[in-house]
Amino acid sequence: MCGIVGYTGPREAYPIILKGLKRLEYRGYDSSGVALLSNNKLKVYKKKGKVAELEDSVIGLDLQGTIGIGHTRWATHGEPSDRNAHPHQSQSGELAMIHNGIIENYTQIKKELESKGYHFKSDTDTEVLLNFIEDIKINNNCALEEALRIALKRVVGAYCILLISNDDPTTIIAARKGSPLVIGIGKGEHFLASDASPIIEYTKEVVYVNDYEIAIVKPDELILKNLGNEKQTPFITKLDMELAAIEKGGYDHFMLKEIHEQPNSIFDCLRGRLLPQSGQIMMGGIENNMDAFIHANRIVIVACGTSWHAGLIAEYLIEELCRIPVEVEYASEFRYRNPVIHKGDVIIAISQSGETADTLVALESAKEKGAFIFGVVNAVGSSIARLSNAGAYTHSGPEIGVASTKAFTGQLAVLMMMALKIGFAKKTIDEKRYLQLMRDLESVPEKIKEILANTKEIERIAEKYKDASDFLFLGRGYNFPVALEGALKLKEISYIHAEGYPAAEMKHGPIALVDEKLPVVFVATKDSYYQKIVSNVQEIKARKGKVIAVATIGDDIIPGMADDVMLVPDIDEVIAPLLSVVPLQLLSYYVGLYKGLDVDKPRNLAKSVTVE
Ligand code: F6R
Repeated sequence: MCGIVGYTGPREAYPIILKGLKRLEYRGYDSSGVALLSNNKLKVYKKKGKVAELEDSVIGLDLQGTIGIGHTRWATHGEPSDRNAHPHQSQSGELAMIHNGIIENYTQIKKELESKGYHFKSDTDTEVLLNFIEDIKINNNCALEEALRIALKRVVGAYCILLISNDDPTTIIAARKGSPLVIGIGKGEHFLASDASPIIEYTKEVVYVNDYEIAIVKPDELILKNLGNEKQTPFITKLDMELAAIEKGGYDHFMLKEIHEQPNSIFDCLRGRLLPQSGQIMMGGIENNMDAFIHANRIVIVACGTSWHAGLIAEYLIEELCRIPVEVEYASEFRYRNPVIHKGDVIIAISQSGETADTLVALESAKEKGAFIFGVVNAVGSSIARLSNAGAYTHSGPEIGVASTKAFTGQLAVLMMMALKIGFAKKTIDEKRYLQLMRDLESVPEKIKEILANTKEIERIAEKYKDASDFLFLGRGYNFPVALEGALKLKEISYIHAEGYPAAEMKHGPIALVDEKLPVVFVATKDSYYQKIVSNVQEIKARKGKVIAVATIGDDIIPGMADDVMLVPDIDEVIAPLLSVVPLQLLSYYVGLYKGLDVDKPRNLAKSVTVE
């Protein structure tokens, strides 16, 4: 949440920062701002709304400066407004700071500062932290870096901050705990950002700053220190990402591009790992820790949102194929409810961004208690990836659209390979089924291409139902989590109230909602629950509900009963979610589009939820 960018070097900072903010806008977009420094003078411009509004508002103003910091905000403390937008300036006007995260004890610090005569212009925790740093600097007559170190020792919460001062015309001081920070190493210049997307076109050499580290960044020098003032050696990583991957590539929206990328992103995920010809699944993270999985008394899956839905599908997969009990936990509940964790418990963490605060903190405490953490993560080098004892990247590529699409199917592909590999090693599936499921998984990219080759019918259905005020999504077995995901996608993108339910559970309550106005989406592909779901469709039709079905090509029963149908190719039910979710992603995209909404940046959301 919140995107931060910084630059120090020989070039003009503003264009670099502005471009970077546009790339990071998926992290939050209720306001944005920049601080530039030239001739020992700080200039701060900020504006409520999207980055484009900031860009318009600064036309004709003094934008000079070869050092600067910029921020795009997802509001936590204080409503979205010009005055709550970052950067904030200290009371003396000498310091400017941007912040991603939450300072939990800010009210206490604010009271202390107010009693010393400080006045605050915003409602933010950031302005409090900034003045706290300034106050320490003045009282101790020390360097800014020292004041920051002292302040951070008092701070409870999460932060990634960038700080500049008008008496140091080339230095950005940065610090992180719990919110990501990447520093790009250029020739005589440095780039700072929440992720690599603003940096990639300038350099591929980056340093991921660790928690509790402070970075002193000058054009030709990068010093990393811990909070004890000891120097740390920066570990330089080479980015494996191309600029094209973070641009729209001819699509109107990132979400549509990312839906259409799925044949390739799943292929990339399977490539070199899934080898049906030789009957092997190559996953070093599983291979090296097979004993931990085989002997696990249980597996706990920890995730949020869409990743949690992938976790639910993994529960069905792992229990069926590996016969290991699985619990799926919302990270935000798991971290606070004092769960029973034993040494050697296996925890699978699922996260696209690898930065979700709830997931990260849940894992930290489980790791402290001796659990073995296996990360299924998309963002390479992210905090969750680094915290995990082992893991498997989904290799889905950068996901920019706020609603998760290709990252979800990447997670499913990884989890399916894991379940197959462990089940086969544990001998809970026989070779015939193992090989058949491998071949089915290998066929997924081509089958998704078939779905994507004809989206006209889905567009038509979206237009037909775009004005509905509620939707119900129903599925059974492996398709139940898909129904939950379909409902979440529609809510996010179209702001239509939608609920996902197990189809059989509907008669225990939600069926009361059904009337001739309610569209009910059935994920009703041919599987072992098929006859049962046919009965559930009839129950809805008998109450005049409108049925939209995701059905299997060649099925001659469901399409005859449903009002509208979205077809997917036939595949084993264990693999089916990888196909059945695609029409639902498209349905929510087109409903959002027909409603004239910003599908890539739905209101109130942010891509990377780095606050609790
Ligand atoms: C929904 C969506 C969110 C995320 C959730 C977890 O489309 O994107 O529900 O799935 O915030 O994020 P990650 O996977 O980054 O931990």
